[in-house]
Amino acid sequence: MARANYGIDAPNVIRTMGLLTLGLIGGGLVLQAVSRTGSGTARLGVTLLWPGASFAVTALLMLVSSRFGKQRARDRLLDRLALRGDETVLDVGCGHGLLLLGAAKRLPRGNAVGIDLWSQADQHANRAAATIANAVAEGVSDRVTVRDGDMRQLPLEDASVDVVVSSLAIHNVPSAAERASSIREIARVVRPGGRVAILDIAHVGDYARELRKAGFIVEHNGITPWIFPPTRELVARRPE
Ligand SMILES: C[S@@+](CC[C@H](N)C(=O)[O-])C[C@H]1O[C@@H](n2cnc3c(N)ncnc32)[C@H](O)[C@@H]1O
Repeated sequence: MARANYGIDAPNVIRTMGLLTLGLIGGGLVLQAVSRTGSGTARLGVTLLWPGASFAVTALLMLVSSRFGKQRARDRLLDRLALRGDETVLDVGCGHGLLLLGAAKRLPRGNAVGIDLWSQADQHANRAAATIANAVAEGVSDRVTVRDGDMRQLPLEDASVDVVVSSLAIHNVPSAAERASSIREIARVVRPGGRVAILDIAHVGDYARELRKAGFIVEHNGITPWIFPPTRELVARRPE
């Protein structure tokens, strides 16, 4: 059976860094090869190697995060939730289903719903069919539903889910006002006593503030060590 593939995040950024690496390191080596040792041109060649190397390291760290680190960060976040196994979990911006399917594996008597608008810039080869194929590969397709939707206007009833999770998705909403309304939407669909668990590379303080405004108690706001760029994890509870 095929293995699940959780996709590469920000593929355009990684591609651009790869091209910059090739250009800078290639250009630096050519300048050194064609110029006299110690000349200004040779020194320029050496200087170009440094930014080239830093783009290479950054692109590599992002690739390793997408392939391996995110799975560790997922497990750590889901461990914090200590699910009973009968909940309904919503993954907002589920992409290939990293949190969606990780949660579904912990829900033998529950179900997991993923919503996404399938941006190709945010994740390579992003589409509902790939997420469903991953659910089959992980053996959880009987309790997973994938829907088209926008987090700024979630297609769900008020107080209809036990837990909302979201990984590296909310920062993709371009304006602060729209990110705030996404968090209000997330708060709206969580039942009293339910929880929200978010991983993101930016704006996590704003999410915490918006959740507090919606009456949630922030239980955890810290760094996860497994993802590059540096990523925070946030867990909040809606009081009964
Ligand atoms: C970097 S990917 C992360 C996907 C997945 N959560 C993961 O960690 O592998 C960001 C996801 O957010 C989705 N997304 C971006 N804006 C969205 C919006 N307004 N509503 C729903 N999903 C959105 C993208 O389509 C993409 O699947």
